[in-house]
Amino acid sequence: MLNNIWYAVEFSAALAQQPKQVTLMGKEFVLYRNSQGEAIALENRCAHRAAALSLGQIDGDCLRCPYHGWKYQADGTCAEIPANQPGMAIPKRARVEPHAVREQNGFVWLFVGNLPADQRPEIPDLPQFAGQQWHRSLDEFRWNAHYTRVIENNVDVSHPPFLHRRLGQRANQDPTIAMLQVEPSRWGASVTLTAKLAKLKGFWQMLVAQQGDFGSTRRHAFYMPNFTTLELNFGRFKLAFLMAHVPVSETVTITKSIILRNFFKSQLFDSSTNKFGQKLLREDEAVVKTQVPQSIAADTSHELLVASDAMILAYRKLYKEYAE
Ligand code: FES
Ligand SMILES: [Fe+2]
Repeated sequence: MLNNIWYAVEFSAALAQQPKQVTLMGKEFVLYRNSQGEAIALENRCAHRAAALSLGQIDGDCLRCPYHGWKYQADGTCAEIPANQPGMAIPKRARVEPHAVREQNGFVWLFVGNLPADQRPEIPDLPQFAGQQWHRSLDEFRWNAHYTRVIENNVDVSHPPFLHRRLGQRANQDPTIAMLQVEPSRWGASVTLTAKLAKLKGFWQMLVAQQGDFGSTRRHAFYMPNFTTLELNFGRFKLAFLMAHVPVSETVTITKSIILRNFFKSQLFDSSTNKFGQKLLREDEAVVKTQVPQSIAADTSHELLVASDAMILAYRKLYKEYAE
């Protein structure tokens, strides 16, 4: 797992009055909000007899273990052992590891590593997805795949006409990819493609009919270590997916998506956009889980990347740099 970096791990909106467990490559954390609404993250193993704190209760600014009620403060120290006689000292070792946590772009970000606060890198800043013009819905998807393959899939620009055949046919897509101009960013890279959509049907045709002939663009971006965005522009209609790919284990990734659109802002349309996204992800997952090796941290020299894979190449290059 890449170290000394922020991972997007949960929707901000999902962090409420109940503690929440987050698992990163098998290591468990517990998230909760204190009385000021600030997000807190602790190691999820009680120092007493190792029960999961995520099953406990929030008590003011503290978290109480479900088993014998030890009460932990936000800095991980135990403030109360209910079974102790009054005046009994609380052992120094009665503490759990605290973890730095922040909220940005609608997600909770957890710092994995040991850098002091002033040396930590910045979290990706995505101001284009803030503001009132967007309607937001949330969705989750579970992959039986390593998160590096999931990220590669999300920046893989040449698979849609094949893997998402119905979508490709509908849009009458030409499978050739123009020379990609990969634009590096502070956290990763992006690429923008234009497409002429000749024969749209149904929902998309309805959009198109309203604005005459236009070109469409899609922009794929990745942000180290576990975040991608996809922006689809159909004239003035925009649909965007902000995706946190939570690396639960070597073989399981949970993608948490915030889906934004600047049209049809009623919630009534959420289920159809979510269904559209889920169908694409199911098609992706069926193939991504077959790739070997499961993680790009292993040797991938048997793979043959071509010009249209420039984003995959950019991701692997950066992954290697971060790993060193
Ligand atoms: S295991 Fe947590 S209080 Fe005993
Ligand atoms: Fe796909």
